[in-house]
This record gives sequence, structure tokens and C-alpha cells, in this order.
Amino acid sequence: MKAVKKAISIPVAVKLSPYFSNMANMAKQLDDAGANALVLFNRFYQPDIDLETLDVRPNVILSTPQALRLPLTWIGILYRRIQADLAATSGIHSGEDAVKVILAGANVSMMTSALLKNGIEHLRFVEKELRAWMEVHEYESVSQMRGSVSQIHAEDPSAFERAQYMRALTTYRPTL
Ligand SMILES: Cc1cc2nc3c(=O)[nH]c(=O)nc-3n(C[C@H](O)[C@H](O)[C@H](O)COP(=O)(O)O)c2cc1C
Repeated sequence: MKAVKKAISIPVAVKLSPYFSNMANMAKQLDDAGANALVLFNRFYQPDIDLETLDVRPNVILSTPQALRLPLTWIGILYRRIQADLAATSGIHSGEDAVKVILAGANVSMMTSALLKNGIEHLRFVEKELRAWMEVHEYESVSQMRGSVSQIHAEDPSAFERAQYMRALTTYRPTL
């Protein structure tokens, strides 16, 4: 990272894998080495096996909105704890998904699968939903929203952490 920063003058954004054993430490190291932004997270290519031909099938699996929880968690935790800007990618399919990552602290919200699935016109719906949410909740700008539900600003900061598993499990009810 330091060598890259030394060699070029443009800002450097690092797109990360979610598979580091200590994500916070990794983010801090990249931040200290001069990364201008972290992009959370890359979705790696994962092939399937065709059970008839026994071939390995290279097909694209698009994300679902459930994938949003991973970048949401880490952006919420890292917001204001590192200098680098934060970009959210994985599972952002709607304007409300974009609202969530911005509230957690994202500078930008990125979208791939939803645009491949619905076409580029989908962006109009996303923008409309984002604007409608802001109007109802009386936010005047995206920067006013940014980070307001990050870990350092949340009413219950522990809600971002693993200890909440116990609470989540005790409140779980199966849908019939
Ligand atoms: C067909 C396809 C091609 C992609 N190519 C790249 C790529 O070249 N570089 C990259 O960083 N990410 C690439 N991605 C990952 C996306 O940029 C994005 O991070 C990922 O799909 C998660 O976001 P999503 O849930 O909105 O799809 C690709 C994704 C898809 C579906």
C-alpha cells in the first residue's frame, strides 16, 4: 500500500475481501498506510458444479439484499474510527438499502446486481425512494444523514457487535 501511494498521485481506494480474521485491524493498517478509501466488500467469483456433466460451471450469481448486512456492520463500526472514506458494496438493491449504508457511515453506496437485474432505469426508483425517505424523516442532505446510526452515534453501540447474537436468538420467532 505504501509503495503504491508513493508511486502515484491519484487517490487510492482499496476494495477488501470480507474474509480477514481481524477486519478492524486490517482496515486500520490500510488507513495508516495512506489508503484514501476502503470499499466494503468484494464478492468473489464462486463457480457451481453441474451434476449431469460434472463440469465446473462459471455462472454469475447476483446478490440479494441480505448481503447488505456485512458492509452495513463494518461501515457502522469503522465510521470515524479511520480517516479513509467508506464505500458500501454488496446487497444494495433499493433506495432504502442506500439510506441504511449512509446512516451507518458510507460516503458512497454502490450497486451492481440490482442494475444487472432491473436495468439502468432502476436508478430512478432508487433516487426516488432515497428522496422520499429523506423528506419523511426531515433530512436535508446526505451528509446530514451520514454516520448518524454508526456505532459511535448509535443509542446502543453494542448492537453492532457479536454479543448481540444472544439477544437476537432469544427474540427469534419462526415465521409460520
Ligand atoms: C458480472 C459482475 C462483474 C463484476 N466485475 C467486477 C470487477 O471487475 N471488479 C470489481 O472490483 N468488482 C466486480 N464485481 C463486483 C461488484 O462490483 C460488486 O462489488 C458486487 O457485485 C457486490 O455488489 P452488488 O450486491 O450490488 O452486486 C462484479 C460483479 C458482477 C456481478
